[in-house]
Amino acid sequence: MAPKYPDEVDVFTVPHSRMKQLVQKYFDMVSSTNFRDAVCMTNMLENLLHTFNEFKMHEQIENHFIMKRLKEKMNALHIRDAKVCNCHSDNRLTEMLTLVLEGYRCAQCSEQDREKYGDTLRQALEEFTQVFIPHMEEEEEVFQPMLVEYFTYDELKELKAKVIQKHLEK
Ligand code: FEO
Repeated sequence: MAPKYPDEVDVFTVPHSRMKQLVQKYFDMVSSTNFRDAVCMTNMLENLLHTFNEFKMHEQIENHFIMKRLKEKMNALHIRDAKVCNCHSDNRLTEMLTLVLEGYRCAQCSEQDREKYGDTLRQALEEFTQVFIPHMEEEEEVFQPMLVEYFTYDELKELKAKVIQKHLEK
């Protein structure tokens, strides 16, 4: 359980609530999609594409407004921590977006191929989620305390406001 910080300086909890809602939504969507129905499958893919683009945007906001600022602050204090450099270094989001786009091509295939694609997509979403949820927990449990340690209350308050504003610009 992540320690509780005052709302005005907690940069992760609000955006992560939204990300977790999206995770629940894609499991509901994929489990209720009939992959033999090309229209139903395409509608689901459209939603999934929006979802993964939103995850991508979330990651970009964190990179630019949180991790970059944290690295700069730590450099100024001569503190090194590899976790800060590597937390978004894998390309799972890109792989998921590629798989979703492949689905659009697959929507033109046979029913059998669409069902096969559905199985692959379900498995990929399970695997993605098994990494994504702990990743968000790590940000809340490891990076939020670092932010509190290295930034002033006013700096963090400003940073939180910027992060929320950027998430709303979509
Ligand atoms: Fe908040 Fe890096 O996901």
